[in-house]
Amino acid sequence: MQSGLRKIIIAIDGYSSCGKSTLARALAKRLGYVHIDTGAMYRAVTYYILRQHIDINDPDEMAQALKKISIQLTFENDSQVTWLNHENVEEAIREPHINEFVSNVSALSAVRTAMVAQQRRMGLEKGIVMDGRDIGTVVFPEADLKLFLVADTEVRVERRWLELQAKGININREDVRANLLLRDQIDSTRADSPLRQSKDATVIDTSYLTPKEQLQIALDLARSVIGTVASAEKPASKNFHKGMPIPFPSG
Ligand code: DC
Repeated sequence: MQSGLRKIIIAIDGYSSCGKSTLARALAKRLGYVHIDTGAMYRAVTYYILRQHIDINDPDEMAQALKKISIQLTFENDSQVTWLNHENVEEAIREPHINEFVSNVSALSAVRTAMVAQQRRMGLEKGIVMDGRDIGTVVFPEADLKLFLVADTEVRVERRWLELQAKGININREDVRANLLLRDQIDSTRADSPLRQSKDATVIDTSYLTPKEQLQIALDLARSVIGTVASAEKPASKNFHKGMPIPFPSG
């Protein structure tokens, strides 16, 4: 559908469980783009550190550990599979145990430097939708389209709890809420590239929008940007249409 048009970089940031990855995956599929869930990369590092009993407060030990970590992302049936040193860790990195530690591990500058470098390489070809916490602010400050997702805390707790239930993981809502709020706090107050809304990002409150509605809003925005980018290179097509104003519910 987008063939002949220049490919762009779409950055999607926001708090935990606002629907970033679901939207990013669907958007990438519709545009024929690659979806990169950067949270999976930080989760894979956390998994390695816990399994190898690395002391995250020991810079030398951390530096050695990071040299031994190789992360690959592949795609099977439109879903991302995360590989840590050639081992499929896609399921393991989603365990509640990882949730407890991932924000502390991802607050470390050494970890961020390594991940950001790899993420930038992934973006060289463009045609990507990357989701995370610092994509529009740090990884790709020049991204062509930036979305910042927010949602009510209770909606996020319910979504996360249902997700865990579906996986057969039994955990009460209070623990889910506590973990979400703690991660929000660590992610948005860390010294190195804290979670922030980029000034030029469009905010989407996903609390009361279905995934389909979220996708439609994102698609309209993406198509208007892709059309703009393409029209800068060649005369605008007759079918060019600008994105409509976005009907967001207030935050
Ligand atoms: O999106 P997620 O819940 O899978 O992310 C897991 C953690 O990784 C999150 O709590 C913060 C961290 N993260 C980050 O610091 N920067 C990113 N670009 C993506 C995730």
